[in-house]
Amino acid sequence: MIDIHCHLLPGLDDGPGSMNESLAMARMAVADGIRGAICTPHWHPMIWPNQRDDIAEAVHALRSRLQAEAIPFEIWAGSELSLDADLEAGLADGRLATLNGGSWVLLELPGTFLPQGIEDYLWRFRQSGHELVLAHPERYSYILRDPARLHAWVEMGVAVQITAASLLGRLGPEIATLCRVLLEHRLVHFLATDSHGINSRRPLLQEAFEAAVEIVGSHDAMRLVDMHPQAVITNESLSLEDYAPLSLPNTKRSWFKFW
Ligand SMILES: [Fe+2]
Repeated sequence: MIDIHCHLLPGLDDGPGSMNESLAMARMAVADGIRGAICTPHWHPMIWPNQRDDIAEAVHALRSRLQAEAIPFEIWAGSELSLDADLEAGLADGRLATLNGGSWVLLELPGTFLPQGIEDYLWRFRQSGHELVLAHPERYSYILRDPARLHAWVEMGVAVQITAASLLGRLGPEIATLCRVLLEHRLVHFLATDSHGINSRRPLLQEAFEAAVEIVGSHDAMRLVDMHPQAVITNESLSLEDYAPLSLPNTKRSWFKFW
């Protein structure tokens, strides 16, 4: 398995505070069957102004320590980019990090309000040649209220990453149910840890992978943790010929009660 969303680099954001904690996270991931990760520290211009060169340097330093400690864990550079007015310019002039330096971008939208004009924005983003993966939309309040919105975005070519802890119910039954519904409707492309440390939000995928196998079977579950992450690493588009999204039923009842 390869984790495409984790906060593994020390001291850059709200992830591990020390190199030793980063190494402990890597050991924990290896023991869980994860063989590598794209390190995705937050980028937010005011709070975490992590730029591509800083992240590359931090990846280089951690990679050296992993080798020195003989921890069999590969890492690549990336970033979790917040929606911001400077985002497009930062990508265009290379200040901001894409996933492994390719065309894939991990984008986090606001959790509590739907940004105005977001459909146009996502469309323009796709047209600019970037592959786009949304970080954990199952946690966005407006997707929880109206999952069909996400269906429209996936039809537009946006990929979706859900978080292992969400699927396992650690963020409540409603988010877990939404994860299940999204999986059943082929609206999920990646399952990742979004890990931040060794005590909470840990770098574990195996249990969530097994939960995904129960829902969609082993072939499609492997897409989420292996095939699709590999495509990101090698800078390819996803092969989705046999993975077209299924429409969510139109219901006037609360979708949560409906399921
Ligand atoms: Fe994250």
